[in-house]
Amino acid sequence: MRVVTEFRARFDAEPAVVGSAPGRVNLIGEHLDYNGGRSMPIALEARTYAAAAVRDDGLLVVESLQTDGRVEVPVEELDDRVEGWAAYVAGVVWALELDACGYSILVDGQVPSGAGLSSSAALECAVAMAVRELTGSTVSRADLVAACVRAENDYVGAKTGSMDQTVAMFAEPGNALLIDFANGATRPVPWDPPGELLVIDTRASHALVGGEYAERRSSCDEAAAELGVDHLAAASLEQVNLLTDLETRRRAHHVVTEQARVVEAEAALRSGDWAEFGRLMTASHASLRDDYEVSVPELDLAVEAALEAGALGARMTGGGFGGSAIALVPPGLDAAVQDAVLAAYASEDWQPPRFVDASAGGPATVERITG
Ligand code: GLA
Repeated sequence: MRVVTEFRARFDAEPAVVGSAPGRVNLIGEHLDYNGGRSMPIALEARTYAAAAVRDDGLLVVESLQTDGRVEVPVEELDDRVEGWAAYVAGVVWALELDACGYSILVDGQVPSGAGLSSSAALECAVAMAVRELTGSTVSRADLVAACVRAENDYVGAKTGSMDQTVAMFAEPGNALLIDFANGATRPVPWDPPGELLVIDTRASHALVGGEYAERRSSCDEAAAELGVDHLAAASLEQVNLLTDLETRRRAHHVVTEQARVVEAEAALRSGDWAEFGRLMTASHASLRDDYEVSVPELDLAVEAALEAGALGARMTGGGFGGSAIALVPPGLDAAVQDAVLAAYASEDWQPPRFVDASAGGPATVERITG
């Protein structure tokens, strides 16, 4: 494994473990995790790897195969904040609060970053798996999810929900994962579409640390407070219509209608009704575009072109403001859909998007290399 041989070369030591965790695409249920709703993501086959060993000098030393440079910080001084991509690694070590002298960690991130495919959660979860194994800790996967979310929310400063880390830890190959954020329950839902789930990475910029995501989140909190519900996803449409501020009402309208779509989408998947599943995907996109207002022209055009070329459904996936769209493409139409999206982008003079065929991969794992 490349990350193991590179670790030996860079640290002049054997790695003890390699943790790895997948990226994800969310099939439906967007912006519902922090609203006590439901989401149904799949884990991707693409993963991030973290080779690691304990060190006895009290330092956390981090390198990546994707970026130059080395970050070195005393574990005791992690509170002083590490910046940049290594903050995700430092944040997990900080949040886990496990006793160890120090760690050497080499990252091989094979989940494309900036594509809205959750490369950051993959990195956090790979590191969490590695560090748990290194320290012999018995904390549960659910606790690792919580630590990774704390790392992202309180250390990196991105106020995201827990969907990405939950699917990275609990995915089952060949299945989507229905996550109910009202009670933390998860269950697999068989995912075996006829044809392909095509991921269209628009390459439009995407950064959740920016204020837009946090703004959406606080609109939802305000709406829930005004309605007197614990979670906005539990509100009814009648209640939503009582909200006084029109923008807040639109945001809440997305949340409540999206929650209903996830319930229908799970039923459609279980009964193999792919046309209905596609219809729900497309309706989800319209709601994210018009009510939640987190789409961008690049995502809208990808969705439109894919549908015109015969996709059963298409939508943006993830937080929005760039990143990727997904299209449910019937057998034999993959090339036609890709061509249609490329042509649409060319006519706008936009850089061509990247395509990936996504299938449902497995959860985070850890492997012992020595000792
Ligand atoms: C990002 C966040 C998730 C979730 C999605 C929107 O991916 O990391 O927690 O809120 O946006 O569904």
